[in-house]
Amino acid sequence: MTQFYIQTWGCQMNEYDSDRIRDLLKAQLWQETSEISAADIVVLVTCAVRKKAEDKVYNKLFSWKHQKILKEKAVICLGGCVASEDGQKALAKAPMVSVVFGPQTIHRLVSMIKEVQETGKRLVDVSFPAIEKFDFLPSPAGRQGSSAFVTIMEGCSNFCTYCIVPYTRGQEMSRSPEAVIEEIKILVSQGIREINLLGQNVNSYCGVYAGGQICNFAELLYLTAEIPGVERIRFTTSNPHDLSDEIITAFRDLPSIANSLHLPVQSGSDRILKLMGRKYDRERYFEVVSKLRAARPNISLSSDFIVGFPGETEQDFRDTMDLIDRVRFDQSFSFIYSPRPGTPAAAMEDNVPLAEKKERLYELQSRINFFAQTYSREMLDTVQKVLIDGISVRSAQELRGRTDNNRTVNFPGDPELIGSFRNVKITYVMAHTLRGELVRD
Ligand code: SAH
Ligand code: SF4
Ligand code: F3S
Repeated sequence: MTQFYIQTWGCQMNEYDSDRIRDLLKAQLWQETSEISAADIVVLVTCAVRKKAEDKVYNKLFSWKHQKILKEKAVICLGGCVASEDGQKALAKAPMVSVVFGPQTIHRLVSMIKEVQETGKRLVDVSFPAIEKFDFLPSPAGRQGSSAFVTIMEGCSNFCTYCIVPYTRGQEMSRSPEAVIEEIKILVSQGIREINLLGQNVNSYCGVYAGGQICNFAELLYLTAEIPGVERIRFTTSNPHDLSDEIITAFRDLPSIANSLHLPVQSGSDRILKLMGRKYDRERYFEVVSKLRAARPNISLSSDFIVGFPGETEQDFRDTMDLIDRVRFDQSFSFIYSPRPGTPAAAMEDNVPLAEKKERLYELQSRINFFAQTYSREMLDTVQKVLIDGISVRSAQELRGRTDNNRTVNFPGDPELIGSFRNVKITYVMAHTLRGELVRD
């Protein structure tokens, strides 16, 4: 029996791709293993967004090699954004790798593996063959849990000056609304209740119906909400520049859209936003936030931040902190700027000292954590709609679920409730999780 092992880094789009790769390999009657030493096929789905992420995968490969963990004849397949970035070069960097495939060629992986097994050749295919990958993937089978990702578009054409994604994932391309809806229906028929629509910039989704008409993202939200069984909708990532009034109206009209939105701002300084090529300024960001809060007064907003972008002054950073205080973000992500080869920002002078970058990151994260904890504390004694997604990691006697604003809650309950929505009263608030009890409906 051929066994395969998959490890995934990076964003949710990679997680989605990895699930589709599982479907493909299982369709060959190959079996997944969590023991790398037992694997005949090793698939690594990688991220190149920051240098650290990229280094991780090569370090991992060499440490496996060094510890002699890999099977002698294992076929090592490097996929995801590092593979796409390095292409042929990956073969030289990592002599143990024999297949290099990209985010848009996952549907060709099986035939590449077979060719390697037969001929012993090393193969590279990191091309961007339009959006055909979706046409060649088996339909999503046997999804576990209560929530699923659905990629609605590939690539990105925004070319923010710091970002490698447009180079690793190619130009933005939307799937047809029919294909997206069909996939959601299949997921719902398997018991999935929450759908997370994915793309690097979902707000600019532009699908084409078989009849030739265009479907924009707001329309796709209404179509998704109409599918019986879809009880909660999330989507990521939104670009503030493209968050239209129609999408904001959908928040008002459609109760199944979760009460939280990830809206990466990156910086609060107009000067830096311009250098980043983000296409909006702080005023536009405040405008979008106030419209969203008018449509959904309690909406929870999270964000991504980059500190230490080339040329970022103390004043620029103060502008970011001021924006944070005005918006009062919930749990967010923040990173020290990492120059990516081939991007325009990599040619700018990276003149902020590392110590300064670290201080700024620390200050920013402390501020965000302060707000996130304030929001958590405000949840004490409230009743939350929770999607129960499994058994608690801490105690087998307890269930684990997610609130609308993306917090994990643990509470005693019958495992039969897994996969359903229930009202849970929050009884205890900890730094990263909440505890609660089921409310009798
Ligand atoms: N499409 C999404 C982001 C995808 S990348 C958007 O536009 O918001 C996820 C996050 O990684 C980004 O939001 C950004 O904060 C961070 N990031 C991207 N490139 C980076 C770089 N070169 N250095 C540091 N952080 C980076
Ligand atoms: Fe990168 Fe900008 Fe595209 Fe996001 S929108 S993936 S940050 S280029
Ligand atoms: Fe990383 Fe590629 Fe996603 S670079 S963030 S895995 S699109």
